[in-house]
Amino acid sequence: MKSLLLAIESSCDDSSLAIIDINTFECVFEQKISQESQHACFGGVVPELAARLHAKALPDILAKTKPFLKDLVAVSATNTPGLSVSLLSGICMAKTLSMLLDIPLIGTNHLIGHVYSLFLDKKEDFSNLGVLLVSGGHTMVINMSEKNPIVLSKSLDDSFGESFDKSAKLLGFSYPGGEKIQALALKARLKNIKFTLPMLRNKSFDYSFSGLKNQVRLKVQEQPLSEELKAEIAYAFEEAATEHIIYKLKKLLQTTNFKSFGVVGGAAANLKLRFKLEALCKEYSLKLHLAPLSHCSDNALMIARAAISQYHKKDFSSFKEELLFKGNI
Ligand code: KG4
Ligand code: ZN
Repeated sequence: MKSLLLAIESSCDDSSLAIIDINTFECVFEQKISQESQHACFGGVVPELAARLHAKALPDILAKTKPFLKDLVAVSATNTPGLSVSLLSGICMAKTLSMLLDIPLIGTNHLIGHVYSLFLDKKEDFSNLGVLLVSGGHTMVINMSEKNPIVLSKSLDDSFGESFDKSAKLLGFSYPGGEKIQALALKARLKNIKFTLPMLRNKSFDYSFSGLKNQVRLKVQEQPLSEELKAEIAYAFEEAATEHIIYKLKKLLQTTNFKSFGVVGGAAANLKLRFKLEALCKEYSLKLHLAPLSHCSDNALMIARAAISQYHKKDFSSFKEELLFKGNI
């Protein structure tokens, strides 16, 4: 008989469930229903709509997990950070399962879940590990080698992914914009536009992307927008956004003793960023861990994997607890 853990991810616009073997990390069930297309026309995620779509999608997916329910030893749901009404959909489902099946309930941090996307099918190794988390909601470098994760740097305004989304919108594309900017940038023939890197004279290791988005806005307004010009702007933006990450990270790495470095989060799918991080890690003799492209964006498997570690530490919650937003990063 297997010992299985079911995890629910519903922090934003993806409804996802995964079931994993707590001993072998084998994934026996995984499904995700993305709400991207329903939010696209609004230019971003609408919380009320997201909650209504989760209320439909999560039970639909759960119905398919029936054959595994008898072998469940724990249930987990993302409980922070995220949109409260979205998180609550998953938390309520997890609490109900925990109560009915009489199994432990685990509240899992979404950001730590992303970090575990580096270790989906293996034991985690956090010794001397730094992680860059780039998503639609967050941009941060985390030191994972301490007892509690420490945020070493972060964005002071827009996140890396959000700046792609906003720049894409300025160029006439719907949400989410990351992949669209990446594809458009590849079509640029001329590379004459250069955007100024943010916070060059600022000594902090933090990031800022809102000024970059404004440089895109000014360029878009400047002249009639041909397809070639759009591609050139996308190229210049992607180049500057990734260079900003690398420039600050280089400075930060000089103050750490990391031996390995990982990149996770939806925007970790950006190929230019991955290439630049490869070069940087080579220069600093760091072992690079890349989140698999299949599990960069929000998914329940990373939550399940993180929850296994909590299971072994008996980091359980009661279904009577509020659970929403409980956590420290
Ligand atoms: O982690 P995620 O799925 O959701 C959050 O927790 O935010 O990340 C979604 C973000 C969006 O902003 C999306 O535009 C961005 O990741 N993204 C990308 C790429 N693919 C997705 N950004 C840049 N380049 C990409 N290839
Ligand atoms: Zn995420």
